[in-house]
Amino acid sequence: MRRIYFILTTFLISFSGTLFANEGMWFLMHIERLNQRDMEKMGLQLTAEEIYSINNQSLKDAIVQFDGGCTASIISNSGLVITNHHCGYNAIAELSTEESNYLKNGFWANSINDELKPKSLSVRFFVRMDDVSDRILSKVNDTMSEKEREAFINKEIAKIEQENNEGGKYTVSVRSFYQGNEYYYFVYQDYKDVRLVGTPPESIGKYGGDTDNWEWPRHTGDFSLFRVYADADGNPAPYSKENVPLKAKYHLPVNINGVKENDFAMILGYPGRTNRWMPAEGIEQNVNYAYPAWVEASKLSMDVMKKYMNKDESVNLMYASKYAGIANYWKNRQGMIDALTKHKTAKTKRKLEKKFNKWANKKEHKAIYGNVVTNINNYYNLTNEKAKHDNYLISLLRSSKFSVLPYSLGRILTNYTNSNEAKRKEILPQLTAFIESSYKEYHLPLEKEILATQLKLYNSKSNYKLPREIITVQKIGFNTYVTNSFKNSIFKSKESLETFIKNPDVDQLKNDPLYKLSSDLLAKYREQPEQLVQPINDYQTSFRLLVDGLRKSGLSSILYPDANSTLRLTYGKVRALPKDARNDANINNYTTLKGMIKKYKPNDAEFDLPSDMLNIYEKKDYGRYADDKGYLPVNFLTDNDITGGNSGSPVLNGKGELIGLAFDGNIEAIAGDVIFDHNLQRTINVDIRYVLWLIDKYSNAKHIVDELTIVKKGNP
Ligand code: ARG
Repeated sequence: MRRIYFILTTFLISFSGTLFANEGMWFLMHIERLNQRDMEKMGLQLTAEEIYSINNQSLKDAIVQFDGGCTASIISNSGLVITNHHCGYNAIAELSTEESNYLKNGFWANSINDELKPKSLSVRFFVRMDDVSDRILSKVNDTMSEKEREAFINKEIAKIEQENNEGGKYTVSVRSFYQGNEYYYFVYQDYKDVRLVGTPPESIGKYGGDTDNWEWPRHTGDFSLFRVYADADGNPAPYSKENVPLKAKYHLPVNINGVKENDFAMILGYPGRTNRWMPAEGIEQNVNYAYPAWVEASKLSMDVMKKYMNKDESVNLMYASKYAGIANYWKNRQGMIDALTKHKTAKTKRKLEKKFNKWANKKEHKAIYGNVVTNINNYYNLTNEKAKHDNYLISLLRSSKFSVLPYSLGRILTNYTNSNEAKRKEILPQLTAFIESSYKEYHLPLEKEILATQLKLYNSKSNYKLPREIITVQKIGFNTYVTNSFKNSIFKSKESLETFIKNPDVDQLKNDPLYKLSSDLLAKYREQPEQLVQPINDYQTSFRLLVDGLRKSGLSSILYPDANSTLRLTYGKVRALPKDARNDANINNYTTLKGMIKKYKPNDAEFDLPSDMLNIYEKKDYGRYADDKGYLPVNFLTDNDITGGNSGSPVLNGKGELIGLAFDGNIEAIAGDVIFDHNLQRTINVDIRYVLWLIDKYSNAKHIVDELTIVKKGNP
């Protein structure tokens, strides 16, 4: 059956290849079969083997997942790594102090010895992948419940991981695709000694702030540089002074000849999550229940955080990264609500599901697919209120440190308290280390206010059954409740925890108000109401069958699996949007330094610029980084198919040379995570010429540029 299906997809691609040229997040191991011809027509000059090879050096050896949630690439033979500024943001903020404020002023290491090691930062190299669908699916059958199915699958997954990790050298991850219809394993190698090499000031790296975030035209220098270190043999090693820069198998050449409309552009990276197969009612649930709750709760946290961050620079540094993360998805989710509503995406999907239902109820399909749509719709109807509740709760847990910490710490403390003297001694180092790191950086007044406001919101907005603890609190009011709880809790400070550890008492812990609240909230988070057990089971089965049926019936044109933080390739072109008065460029596919300066607003939190930027702009010293028309390019547009997680991904020309870094998407197409819009969807990239100019001319860090392999027409 798989063989028939294979022929069918190959047949379909010959049509859809031209129709949907730039949609798709493709697996590297399928490029030869599915995309190579199309890519060549568009301008690719590499073979599939040069992009992904198991045995020989290939492009993929220069692509890493950065810090778990972003992408980066290796650009020198001494382990130099380039990613977005917003991907390095957390590390940069952590390394900053009020005196050495790298977030504010930027940072450039003069030599390798000056590079800065953040607490924890890792990069992940991709070694190889393979299809294990047949192997895994042979372990399950249609009579199993979803729980049983999962157990059998997990058992097989554990074996596959064991077989491929080469005694712990590699991390192996088996992932499900097409909603559990296919499985692939991925072999990775992780490096954990990664150090900051350089970053522009935030006013450049995040120019335009949250106002410009998700928007085009854009003028952001969204890049930062790091270096991967290894032991003397090139193997991963924990941080050590003895470690040396990694000589990776491959590094990307950097092409500074510039880009123009219709140039081929491809992006390799780790897109996090798309929902292109999501059913209509799932979209409705997000638009009407889940996302509005998310947006409302996020805004509340942002306002509280900002209030304290604006008052005190040290608080600002503590919370800058967390704030940026919340603000990013706050704007994204509101954009999603607007775009999905405007484009009537659920309606489009409903039409497709109607067609599917017809196909599913044909005599030969009915036994398997007959109830699929009914089960799916039933599940969403039953869980709309829960989705709203869950989103308020998740926002609370995400934004409030003290909604989660007492529970996680409390569990170790319980174990400690219940142990004998010897065992306690054993637990103590881990316990103190956890306390040490948890109580290092936070601002108590901010934390108290976030907890109180989030609890209050959660309580007032959720029609769903609330956790026990909250119900008792309603009477006294949330501010008083939170103030009292902190006063009477051992979790209020490191010191009170240390006192407790000297004299641990199980009853005191059990009755600790913050521990009780935190345990209650997390129990609520994990709770699965009895009446939903069967509908959830049927939904999972049906969603899998929906995707399976949509593919087999040919009703869906989608030929790639949803993003799930695995390495993908997307290819397309440099492509303009319709002319826009806000962009001074003569074609709306790039922006210039002049345009950036035009947006400058002195002392504004988002559009201020360093004074030396203004001075250097006056001189127009763009050197070899200028376009042949004499301007300095800043950002440009391609029509690649990316999403969050792709941030920092290299944008490559037809020869696989670096021409830019992907860093954002445009708000008009923000519904792209659910439905790709061929006319509107764009990727916003920082031009590599702007990056090099910032390093070389603006920051005087020419020694870094000297490490690169630069491709330039005529004189390099
Ligand atoms: N929208 C970008 C992404 O999701 C993040 C940009 C960060 N910048 C900001 N102003 N918050 O990857």
